[in-house]
Amino acid sequence: MDLRIAVLPGDGIGVEVVDASMRVLDVVAGKFGHKVHAEFADVGWAAIDKHGTALPASTREICKRNSAILFGAVGLPDRDQTLPQKERPERVALLELRKGLYANLRHVLLPPGLASRCPLKMELIQRGIDIMIIRELTGGLYYGQPQGISGASPDRKAIDTLAYSESEISRILKVGFETARKRRKRLTSVDKANILATSQLWRELATAMGKQYPDVQLEHMYVDNASMQLLRRPSDFDVIVTENTFGDILSDEASMLAGSIGLVPSASLGEPGADGTSSVPFYEPIHGSAPDIAGQNKANPVATILTVAMMLNYTFGLSKEAAAIEKATFAVLNAGKILTGDLGGKSTCSEVTDAVIAGL
Ligand code: IPM
Ligand code: MG
Repeated sequence: MDLRIAVLPGDGIGVEVVDASMRVLDVVAGKFGHKVHAEFADVGWAAIDKHGTALPASTREICKRNSAILFGAVGLPDRDQTLPQKERPERVALLELRKGLYANLRHVLLPPGLASRCPLKMELIQRGIDIMIIRELTGGLYYGQPQGISGASPDRKAIDTLAYSESEISRILKVGFETARKRRKRLTSVDKANILATSQLWRELATAMGKQYPDVQLEHMYVDNASMQLLRRPSDFDVIVTENTFGDILSDEASMLAGSIGLVPSASLGEPGADGTSSVPFYEPIHGSAPDIAGQNKANPVATILTVAMMLNYTFGLSKEAAAIEKATFAVLNAGKILTGDLGGKSTCSEVTDAVIAGL
């Protein structure tokens, strides 16, 4: 199979971890008889420095003509501050490229061999942690109008709008139910239905859809309670489905349960051609650009390597190839000998990558 991928390393450690994951992909493709066609493109500060914008037209073009986008990270906090909000890389590039991709899947899995890296007590994690968080990605507070700051100090007013339509809620709930059906058949729908109108509609629609999935055990949970239960009984969670901002916050919290944010991959998916803008599936590790360790071969490549596995699964339907990457990666993590600094080890990004490749 021809694997056509737009590769956007971006800033900071994005460059190293994307390079590592592409090395793994090349080896897997070779073993299974596939051909990787990678088109590299600039994004973030890497693009501002060369083209004057974080998302140049040439990068958009490259994204459009490929089947998937592999993305590293954008943003360099020191330099971001020199730009107005609206021109910062995360707005100009990240939110733009995610347009139309309403389903953000973030997989939090604690490798048993790294149980001691999980900040929770052993007795709380004995049954393991394997949670798929499904975050709605194109609605809610991030995009709702009106939005902005108006008036003159000291009477300025700031507004963000939390808005969801029935169809936006239903399509993400469906992803939640379908995903749960393929896993352990438990779906936790997270909302704030005791206060928010959007959440009341969300809960009503989730309850109704639940009737079509009698095999899936549906539970509703308020977001404040969910943030607590994740720490109290993480093993009880299978699939979580929630709106944009709740999902942003809960997925960072949950990532610590995996031992490090450096282990959590993600996929952002839409329906092909759904809204005409960018419906090319977008794959990224959930961590950022970490400029403090960039260029030193210290970054953990695992989140991006597992992100490539998600890409093989979801975009190319290559589940055996994806499973091979996951197996080799978790073998390295569980052995606990070759680990980067975030996991208490001393190995480099390339050593971890070499170890994964050796196990393929
Ligand atoms: C994430 C990030 C982004 C988000 C920011 C950088 C806009 O926090 O991917 O979780 O909130 O979606
Ligand atoms: Mg976030």
